[in-house]
Amino acid sequence: MEKATIRDIDVAGKKVLVRVDYNVPMENGAITDDTRIRATIPTLRHLLANGAAVILASHLGRPKGAPVPEFSLAPAAKRLAELLGQEVAFASDCVGPVPEAMARDLKPGQVLLLENLRFHKEEEKNGPDFARSLAALADVLVNDAFGVSHRAHASVEGVTRYLPAVAGLLMEKEIDFLSRAVTSPAHPYVAIIGGAKVSDKIGVISNLLTKVDTLIIGGGMANTFIAAQGYATGKSLVEEDKLELAKSLLADAKARGVRLLLPGDVVVADRFAADAAAKVVSIDAIPEGWMALDIGPASSQTFAQALADAKLIVWNGPMGVFEMDAFAQGTEAVAKAVAASAATSIVGGGDSVAAIEKMGVQSKISHISTGGGASLEFLEGKVLPGIAAIRDK
Ligand code: 3PG
Repeated sequence: MEKATIRDIDVAGKKVLVRVDYNVPMENGAITDDTRIRATIPTLRHLLANGAAVILASHLGRPKGAPVPEFSLAPAAKRLAELLGQEVAFASDCVGPVPEAMARDLKPGQVLLLENLRFHKEEEKNGPDFARSLAALADVLVNDAFGVSHRAHASVEGVTRYLPAVAGLLMEKEIDFLSRAVTSPAHPYVAIIGGAKVSDKIGVISNLLTKVDTLIIGGGMANTFIAAQGYATGKSLVEEDKLELAKSLLADAKARGVRLLLPGDVVVADRFAADAAAKVVSIDAIPEGWMALDIGPASSQTFAQALADAKLIVWNGPMGVFEMDAFAQGTEAVAKAVAASAATSIVGGGDSVAAIEKMGVQSKISHISTGGGASLEFLEGKVLPGIAAIRDK
């Protein structure tokens, strides 16, 4: 069912509560990556141009239900003002007399950002009184917070019991692209899954196996599959309790006729350190006492070839210990190959997105998701509570 968006409603003269995901990385009070703020600008411009008074609500970090100064959204208000080129008022709380008065006085074309929702424990508990207080600030809810749509929190789900909810343009775009990977995907469909642990990605792998033509598995989690095939893995990270699962996923892929590609060579190191001794070995020759920290060059080439003729690519998770230069090449090679492909490409997860940015190929990717956990749950085929709560068209 298609979701209603801000294009389907008249917002002139209305107070519009916009749930955004401004959970941005910060260092010493400074925002180090404002992608999630920038991503909401089209929605905000649309609302402002159409005469809405815009009240923004977000969480930042995990302050556990009490005010923590380092998790204040004040820096986000400042950054947003720069991006919008207009004043953004900031309310020192998200519920109570302060935001109520500020929201009441807000005029069409003006913007107000509320303080961190998670300074109140009722947000994550989806408390009805808290949801009602948020709803009382506005006439309608716009959900543009795809990144937190997998959480049934008060500002995401509860508030929609008291306010009609429509999708923002970012939410619409995320749903549009990610749906292509879940419902009627184009073929050949190639998914690349990486990251440290199989246990984090079981749901995604299982669901992808029902849809893809080729599944590429790299990163630390590939070690568990390599071990499951009977190879010695030295000191590599292997989830011993997931070996049987890895075997059954391999069997499932075979039974379904899905081509499952694992690394054939790896970069091994004598210890987990940026300056460790490192060499490329075939997976049947991982020396005792060494650990695989990246895929090898032959694997990068095989993976790139598998991506070359794809019509749809989904990538989530790095191929190695990407934050150490010596073990970043596999991830960088995949980033380049995804960018070089003519396929519709969807990239999610912090490290994969960072690799795309490091290689400067953002413009070659069809969709870079702003959601980490949310995009994974979407790809698992789960119904995300924040999306389910948006009105159907
Ligand atoms: C994210 O960064 O993935 C979202 O903002 C959700 O944050 P959370 O995992 O703390 O709920």
